Amino acid sequence: MSRRCCCRRLAALLLAALAWVPGAAPACPALCTCYVSPPTVSCQASNLSAVPAGLPPGARRLFLQNNVIAALRAGAFGPSTVTLWLYSNNISSIQPGTFRHLPALEELDLGDNPHLRALAPDTFHGLRRLQALHLYRCRLASLPSAIFRGLHSLQYLYLQENGLLYLQDDLFADLANLSHLFLHGNRVRALSEGVFRGLASLDRLLLHANRLAAVHRRAFRGLARLTILYLFNNSLAALPGDPLAALPALQFLRLNANPWACDCRARPLWAWFRRTRVSSSPVLCASPPQLGAGGHGAVPPVTRPAGALVPQSHHRGHGDRGSRPAPRPPHGPGGRRRGAPHGCPPGRGACWERGRSSKGCWERGPGSKGCWERGPGPGPGSRACWERGPGSRACWEWWHQGSKGCWERGLGSRGCWEQRPS
Ligand SMILES: *[C@@H]1O[C@H](CO)[C@@H](O)[C@H](O)[C@H]1NC(C)=O
Ligand SMILES: *[C@@H]1O[C@H](CO)[C@@H](O)[C@H](O)[C@H]1NC(C)=O
Ligand SMILES: *[C@@H]1O[C@H](CO)[C@@H](O)[C@H](O)[C@H]1NC(C)=O
Ligand SMILES: *[C@@H]1O[C@H](CO)[C@@H](O)[C@H](O)[C@H]1NC(C)=O
Repeated sequence: MSRRCCCRRLAALLLAALAWVPGAAPACPALCTCYVSPPTVSCQASNLSAVPAGLPPGARRLFLQNNVIAALRAGAFGPSTVTLWLYSNNISSIQPGTFRHLPALEELDLGDNPHLRALAPDTFHGLRRLQALHLYRCRLASLPSAIFRGLHSLQYLYLQENGLLYLQDDLFADLANLSHLFLHGNRVRALSEGVFRGLASLDRLLLHANRLAAVHRRAFRGLARLTILYLFNNSLAALPGDPLAALPALQFLRLNANPWACDCRARPLWAWFRRTRVSSSPVLCASPPQLGAGGHGAVPPVTRPAGALVPQSHHRGHGDRGSRPAPRPPHGPGGRRRGAPHGCPPGRGACWERGRSSKGCWERGPGSKGCWERGPGPGPGSRACWERGPGSRACWEWWHQGSKGCWERGLGSRGCWEQRPS
């Protein structure tokens, strides 16, 4: 007897045995593998162009990912389904009612179906036990207002890498148990006042790699448990009205890769950083252009902790110029005031003013402050003064290819220098 024949007979015996065991799994669809406990049907990566007919009605887990399924129809899935993986298919339409009678469904993965593009408002209605919904990489441009209605058990919602252009108020209003909301890699331009309303359990909110230019001052209100917020790689120049102040539990914040303006609009953010202990990526200034565009003479060489607003040219690596001897103003305090712009009351963050030249002042913590002025070109007309704690201060002035200045540092350490072109 050949080996193959033997195996076949064995398989036949096994099938017969299964068929006779009361409650055992019924026939498994072609190209699928079925498991008894927990009842599972696995048809992944089989080039299926449709959901196979005759899925065992008692199946709790259905793995149909990595096929070319084009449409989902009502009645395809049985009421016992708990886990349904349909990611990386070619689904472009979902018939109304497809998920209507799946009261046990806890996880639905529809991600990476780039032809999906639009969803009917009631697609997920009735999924009272749904905990995780994956809709990443589906080229969705918008979401119907009612799409997440009634999903009270939802904890994980993945909407990243779509083409979402906006998020309307109250879109997530029923999701009181949601802890993860991933919205990165979309094209959202603004966050309105009510967009995150209802998300009382939200722990992490990822909004990076969008086109955010405006965040309503109350957009984050009610996110009392949020610990992680990513806003990097957007188009934010400022956060007017201090929206971050509404986040008492925040621990990790990323704001980098935005065109932050380091003029007076930066004050609330600056003040917020000073009174919180949030861990943040460095925040670089993109404007005014004189500061961002490589001029390094006029930038106050103060080492700031991550989280503070840092002029970009300072960060671009001229070493820690703050460790140089801290010079002393040659002309007394009057010299220090020369660059002070109007409209910038002392003791308040930083202010910039710019035209053909730029000037400004900053203040950070007790005793650390300064002003600078930068001429329209290289050479004369640029100067800076700063103070760093009691007795530590300096002024610099730049000439044609040279600089001179004075410093004072604690008790008895002081001096002046002049550097001429060689
Ligand atoms: C997948 O199925 C299509 C027809 O539905 C067929 O043309 C194609 O060759 C199949 N691909 C593979 C890799 O089996
Ligand atoms: C996927 O669906 C689109 C239209 O929805 C169709 O043009 C394309 O040929 C499909 N791709 C495959 C591999 O079936
Ligand atoms: C969802 O949240 C509500 C209120 O916060 C709570 O009563 C309910 O038990 C939660 N449901 C689940 C499934 O976590
Ligand atoms: C920023 O986001 C865009 C999409 O908005 C993306 O293409 C780009 O790779 C991202 N850049 C970085 C540095 O993450």
